[in-house]
Amino acid sequence: MADLSVSLNRLKLKNPILVASGTFGYAKEMTAFVDFAELGGIIPKTVTPQPRPGNPPPRTVETASGLLNSIGLDNDGFDQFVAEKLPGLLKLGTSIIVNIAAKAMDDFHRMAKVLQGVPGIAGIELNISCPNVSGGVDFGTDPVMAAEVVSAVRSSCDLPVIAKLTPNVTSVVPIARAVADAGADAVSLVNTFQGMAIDWKKRRPILGNVLGGLSGPAIKPLALRIVWQVSQAVPVPIIGIGGIQSIDDVMEFLLAGATAVQVGTANFYNPGVGNQLVRELPEALARLNASTPSEVTGKLEIPAKG
Ligand code: FUM
Repeated sequence: MADLSVSLNRLKLKNPILVASGTFGYAKEMTAFVDFAELGGIIPKTVTPQPRPGNPPPRTVETASGLLNSIGLDNDGFDQFVAEKLPGLLKLGTSIIVNIAAKAMDDFHRMAKVLQGVPGIAGIELNISCPNVSGGVDFGTDPVMAAEVVSAVRSSCDLPVIAKLTPNVTSVVPIARAVADAGADAVSLVNTFQGMAIDWKKRRPILGNVLGGLSGPAIKPLALRIVWQVSQAVPVPIIGIGGIQSIDDVMEFLLAGATAVQVGTANFYNPGVGNQLVRELPEALARLNASTPSEVTGKLEIPAKG
């Protein structure tokens, strides 16, 4: 069997195909469709220190080649997640990366300390990039604050830490550099692009929150560009995210500089897509005379100009 394993500093995965937070529930919903153990890992929906009801409906709208969401971090809260969801997730035979968000550093400390005490967690992904919640969970737009969150979590636990970054800034490079310097093992690039949809006949925005985050194939070229730019500037492992639905997409992200990828929106219309990509990966690698994903990561060849 092919060795598809990848290392992102301290985070080791059996293969580079992960499923993205917010697109896979807490996995239980997917049982009938997915071979969990075959996946490189699962990142469950973001949890926050306290339960959150989320934003008013409508909270999703389909757009051309994309999906706008304004869920607003709807979740039952960290304590309930640890007590009721995490034990089941940790029995699935794949890496579980817990995704957390908060408005205060103390909350990041507390959640990281609790997770440190739960055996079997592969890592923590910090959602410092949700576009749908006002009042301070978007630490990822400021390099100093983003680094502070990473430092808070690093000082509270020994688990590998991934910072999930926003594309809604002029350049992601300074933020990626700041979180890498603060000790992030990897960065996830990228969360959704802020957007909106309008029902012109009613003169109203479609989403209850007015604005939302755009994901899906519509954002793939933008995400690829950011992965490539960050990979050229910052020596930190990258997890590529943005409209991945085929093995071609996976290979493009690897070449651009990603060590692993997350499949997001495609899970909604093809829950088995992660399994399919794991199975298709060896043959795609072989097309580039490679047998491991790391032989392809960052190996884009840019023709000389002139
Ligand atoms: O609104 C949401 O729950 C989305 C979260 C995210 O994009 O990180």
